[in-house]
Amino acid sequence: MKYTIALIKGDGIGPEIVGSAVRVLQKAGEKFGHSFVFREYLMGGCAIDASGTPLPEETVAGCLASDSVLLGAVGGPKWDKNPPALRPEKGLLGLRAALGLYTNLRPAKLYPALSAECPLRADIVAEGFDLMIVRELTGGIYFGERGRREGKFGPEAYDTEAYSVAEIERIARVAFETAKKRRGRLVSIDKANVLETSRLWRETMHRIGAEYPEVALSDMLVDNAAMQLVRCPSQFDVIVTSNLFGDILSDEASQITGSIGLLPSASLGDGTCGLYEPIHGSAPDIAGQDKANPIATILSAAMMLRYSFGLSAEAGCIEAAVDHVLAQGLRTADILGKSGARPLGCTAMTDAILAAL
Ligand code: IPM
Ligand code: MG
Repeated sequence: MKYTIALIKGDGIGPEIVGSAVRVLQKAGEKFGHSFVFREYLMGGCAIDASGTPLPEETVAGCLASDSVLLGAVGGPKWDKNPPALRPEKGLLGLRAALGLYTNLRPAKLYPALSAECPLRADIVAEGFDLMIVRELTGGIYFGERGRREGKFGPEAYDTEAYSVAEIERIARVAFETAKKRRGRLVSIDKANVLETSRLWRETMHRIGAEYPEVALSDMLVDNAAMQLVRCPSQFDVIVTSNLFGDILSDEASQITGSIGLLPSASLGDGTCGLYEPIHGSAPDIAGQDKANPIATILSAAMMLRYSFGLSAEAGCIEAAVDHVLAQGLRTADILGKSGARPLGCTAMTDAILAAL
């Protein structure tokens, strides 16, 4: 089969890690007889520099015309003082909205080979953990009305969170379907003791839950969830939560795997075209130095094969190659810990994964 993939390298370490994932995709394509055609588009800081906007129209059009999109990361100190509409992140949020990508899947699991890098006590992760965060991605406070105004105590700022029943229903269905294919447990995370959006969220989750008797649904308040993730992460199978809570909890979940440099993500809508990106940022401090960990982006490419192209065997093969190099003791600087290993750069780690593939 032939697939067209839009590449958005972005800023900072983006070009290096996307380059690694492209090499892995090409190799997987050779091995399994698929051809991938790559088309590059600008987004984020580099797009602001080149064309004065974080999300050029041709980028949206190019992504819409592709079978899927692979993204590195956007942002950096250079654009931090820009006005809101000219921030790199605005490009990413705009692209998620333009492609209708309301589901964000963020898996986090502990690799046995990396258990020493997990910051949690050994007895807490003795059973390991393997969880999937289903984050709502195009609604909530990220997309609500915001602004500045004159308030009771003088000038103030506000952001608002709104969720419609329809938005909650569609993410609920994705979460229940995901749980059904895994271990059948779903925890819906909200702040229903305070927020009205959370009360609607909870009500709707349970109503949709009635259609999925095979999935055990429970609720958890977000503050408790933040604590439970580090107290006993193995209790979680699938988590479903709002845009903001999912953003926060997925960083926490990544850290207990040992490094944020390991975690891939898939952003999906109703069609098969998705946006695949590591959950980490553009790491401007190490950009261009061949130090970045390419694993999160390589695993994002594997998710693309699985979720957008239905190529599970191919995806599994890439994941197995990553397992293999980690089990061999190969490490990038972020997962070095006390291993005593010599840290590999982005290129050398990619070479090792290609060899394993
Ligand atoms: C993420 C990031 C983004 C988000 C930023 C860059 C806008 O933190 O993908 O988790 O908050 O969604
Ligand atoms: Mg985030």
